[in-house]
Amino acid sequence: MFERRFRYLCLKFECMLQRPRRNRKNVAIRDLVQETNLTADHLIYPMFLIDGQNKREVIPSLPNLFRLSEDLALKDIEDSLNLGIRIFDIFPAVEDHLKNQTASYSYAEDNFYLRIIRKIKETFPEAVLMSDVAMDPYSSDGHDGFVENDLIHNDKTLPILSKMSVAQAQAGIDIIGPSDMMDGRVGAIRRELDLNGFTEVSIMSYCAKYASAFYGPFRDALNSAPKFGDKKSYQMNPANKREALIEAKLDIAEGADFLMVKPASLYLDVIHLMKENFEIPITAYNVSGEYAMIHAAAEKGWLDYDRAMCEMLLSIKRAGADGILTYFAKDFARLIKSS
Ligand code: PBG
Repeated sequence: MFERRFRYLCLKFECMLQRPRRNRKNVAIRDLVQETNLTADHLIYPMFLIDGQNKREVIPSLPNLFRLSEDLALKDIEDSLNLGIRIFDIFPAVEDHLKNQTASYSYAEDNFYLRIIRKIKETFPEAVLMSDVAMDPYSSDGHDGFVENDLIHNDKTLPILSKMSVAQAQAGIDIIGPSDMMDGRVGAIRRELDLNGFTEVSIMSYCAKYASAFYGPFRDALNSAPKFGDKKSYQMNPANKREALIEAKLDIAEGADFLMVKPASLYLDVIHLMKENFEIPITAYNVSGEYAMIHAAAEKGWLDYDRAMCEMLLSIKRAGADGILTYFAKDFARLIKSS
């Protein structure tokens, strides 16, 4: 009925009633009808730390990012806070001689990473700190779990992860990020945190973490690539989506406060699926390879850096991510501040 009348009117007045372009005709109207908005409030900035003083090591596959010693990391956090970034995910680059089969340096008394966490919280109590929980930065095998006879032993890994989490909570971490993909780790960590009085420490579980080619630059930054094999027996197969629902249900039941999807821009369907199916906040990790890819293309003059960065981050938010972990955090915050 409506169709017929519409055709009649169009014929009679030679007009088109619906012209979606009218809502795009100038910047004020475009801004008025913009459905997705992204600010520095939605970003978490990952940083790499090293032991020592006044050290700033270049990471060739992560342009403009550095391994920083305590003093320079504090300066970087101050600059970021001034840009409106308030949440930081910090990773330690551990020297090889401190790595072993049990990742015992992760909770050692003299661990430089735990010392820097304390220092950051002392200097900037308003900064929210997130840490990674997995064995790989501390493991002589370069795997996220405990290795026995070239296999990753799930249940022997859980107490190590729990111990690592408590050590990080004692140092002042606000959000624990288990990135190891062992079964039952969220529950094991939650229990141990609570038993030690850290009921206020949150867990952001790397819930749908895929065995991705896009972690390469990160592994360069930490020198943490696996010494044998790959991570496919614990990280998810990029071909699978429904499996993410299984992981999500378990992580929620075990006490996760946020569910993370990783990588982000290649897994927008998974982010959307999570958002549709679960009530707790969804985050996405815009990983090192996604960052490196845009940098490399921009360096060649093939993409516009600022526009490509904004489009990538906005798409992740549009798909359903409440928060985004991204190496673009400072560049994005600087850009929106200046525009
Ligand atoms: C450690 C960890 C990894 C990343 C975050 N935590 C690497 C991996 O699982 O091999 C990747 C982050 C990135 O690529 O930016 N388990």
